[in-house]
Amino acid sequence: MGVTRVEHDRETREVILSFAKSIQERDIVTYQHSRRVATYVQRLARYLGWSRSEARNLALAALVHDLGKTWIANDILNKSGALSVEERRKMEQHPVIGARILIGCDVHPFYVEAVLYHHEAWNGCGYPAGLQGEAIPMSARMLTVADVYDVLTSWRPYKNALSVDEARKLIIADSEIYFDPLIVDAFLRLLDISPNFTLPQQDMFEKQTLHYPPHLDDF
Ligand SMILES: [Fe+2]
Repeated sequence: MGVTRVEHDRETREVILSFAKSIQERDIVTYQHSRRVATYVQRLARYLGWSRSEARNLALAALVHDLGKTWIANDILNKSGALSVEERRKMEQHPVIGARILIGCDVHPFYVEAVLYHHEAWNGCGYPAGLQGEAIPMSARMLTVADVYDVLTSWRPYKNALSVDEARKLIIADSEIYFDPLIVDAFLRLLDISPNFTLPQQDMFEKQTLHYPPHLDDF
């Protein structure tokens, strides 16, 4: 007898959460970004009529969408300037690396697909496969919009956070280039009807002053 669906779900959840933990240890910026993307995509899935458990599964995939970055060298990962062609090529391996890690753990193809294809573009100019339009799994198309929205509205060492309005305009401009236009429509409608949709970015400096240098109280 095989494992029951519930047991399988629990195992998958544990595997994915342990990978999320490894991302947290390796790269706190990516981890916090992934948490916000998971929340956005879960809300989007519910808005599009996905069941609670389907939406939760997509959120789990979002938590590890950049898992492959844990295998990218620090000097590339944390580089604040433009990447060279070779560095970019390595960076663009991260969806494949992440998918391979999940396949190695026998994770259901639903999660593998979402991770593998989250940098595909609606017009076919994305990576790693160059899939186009509806050939890109729906999970990945949703993840792409949530992912980019968070990148745009977050502060990074090399860029300021855009306002919700500015991010909105850029996403509309890239609809049908990078994004499925129907997903963009749904995401923006959801954004409009949800007060406080955009999650605050945790203050990295606040965290650092808490732990570096350590206070005596911490011991
Ligand atoms: Fe990514």
